[in-house]
Amino acid sequence: MSTVWESDDTTPMNPEAERLVSAEFTEDDLEIDRSLRPKRLVDYLGQTRVKENLSVLIDATKARDEALDHILLSGPPGLGKTTLATVIANELGVTLKTTSGPAIERPGDLAAILTNLQENDVLFIDEIHRLNRVVEEVLYPAMEDFSLDIVIGKGPAARSLRLELPRFTLVGATTRTGLLTGPLRDRFGMAFRLDYYNATELQEIVERSAGILDVPIEHEGAAEIARRSRGTPRLANRLLKRVRDYAQVRHDGQISEDIAAEALAFFQVDHVGLDKMDVAILETLIHTFSGRPVGLNTLAAAVGEETDTLEDVYEPFLLQLGFLTRTPKGRQATPRAYQHLGLKTAEQIAQDGLF
Ligand SMILES: Nc1ncnc2c1ncn2[C@@H]1O[C@H](COP(=O)(O)OP(=O)(O)OP(=O)(O)O)[C@@H](O)[C@H]1O
Ligand SMILES: [Mg+2]
Repeated sequence: MSTVWESDDTTPMNPEAERLVSAEFTEDDLEIDRSLRPKRLVDYLGQTRVKENLSVLIDATKARDEALDHILLSGPPGLGKTTLATVIANELGVTLKTTSGPAIERPGDLAAILTNLQENDVLFIDEIHRLNRVVEEVLYPAMEDFSLDIVIGKGPAARSLRLELPRFTLVGATTRTGLLTGPLRDRFGMAFRLDYYNATELQEIVERSAGILDVPIEHEGAAEIARRSRGTPRLANRLLKRVRDYAQVRHDGQISEDIAAEALAFFQVDHVGLDKMDVAILETLIHTFSGRPVGLNTLAAAVGEETDTLEDVYEPFLLQLGFLTRTPKGRQATPRAYQHLGLKTAEQIAQDGLF
C-alpha cells in the first residue's frame, strides 16, 4: 500500500510502527489509560457478575465500617484489573496504595509499605505472582492477623518482634493464577477472574471513550472496532485512537463502520481481531511444524516472541477463538484456524485434494 504522507517509523499512521496487540505500554497508552480509566463501579462496563458480587461486599463492608476482605483479581492483560482495584478503593472511600510484585525486593520494602497504611486502606499489588518467597512469607501474617514479624539482630541474640498493623485490604492482580503459590492464594477471601468482554460491552466502552476523547463516531463504527478488539478494553481504546488518526488523515474525521473497517485493515487487524503475530503463530504451527503439536518455547523461538507474552497475550485469545488447542504434547492449530486462514487440513487434502 502506498502512503500519501511523509512517514517514518514513529508516526502513528505507519502500521509497522507499533504493535497494537503487544503487552507493552507506550507513553501514549499510559496517558489514554489514565484519561479513560473508569473511577466508579457504574462506569466500569461489563464483568456483570464480578461487579454484582463486589457491590454487595462493598456495601456490607461500608455498613460495618470494616476493611474489605482481601481480593485476588486474575485475567489476561488489559481486561481491567488495575482499573477495578482503583474502583474498589474509590467505592470504599479509602486511599489506594499501589505497588507490584517485582518492585518489592526485600521483606523490609514490604514492611515499609505495610506500616505506612491507614486503617481500611487498599493495598494493590500488581503482578503478585512475581513476589519472591521471602517477601511472600512476610505477607502471610500481615494478611491473616494484620501483624508483622520482624527479626532484630542475628545469631543467638536475635529477637523476634511482632508489630500490629492497621486492618487493610490487599487487592492482588495476576495474569496467571496458576503461578500463585497455594498458601498465598488461600489467604484471599475472594478471587475474581475477569473474562474477555463481549462485542456489546466493548462497543459501550468504545462509545464511552469516544465521548471522553470527543471523537465523532457512529454506533456501527464503534461496533466494528469492538468486534476487532479481541475482547480487551485496553485494545479497544488503542484501536479507537488509531482509527481516529486514520479517519482524520484520510477522511473527514467521522468514524463510520466502513471507515473503521478500512482503518483496521490498514493497521493489519483482521475481522476477528487477529494481528500479524497471531497469524504468524498459526502459520508457523501449520507450515513450519506441519500441524504437529509444538512446545511453547519452541513456538516462541520460531515466531521471535517472548514466551511469557505468547502465553499471556496471544495464546488465551487464540484458545478463546478455538483456533488453538493445548495438548499434552504442545500447542496445535485447530481445523477452525485452517479455515480462518483459507487453508486445508491434512485430512481435507487427503479427502479432496490440495485445491
Ligand atoms: N470495565 C471497563 N470499562 C471501561 N473501560 C475499561 C474497563 N476495564 C478496563 N478498561 C479500560 O482499559 C484500560 C486497561 O485496563 P487495566 O489497566 O485496568 O487492565 P489490567 O487488567 O490491569 O491490565 P494488565 O494486566 O496489563 O495490568 C483502562 O485504562 C481502561 O481505560
Ligand atoms: Mg494492570
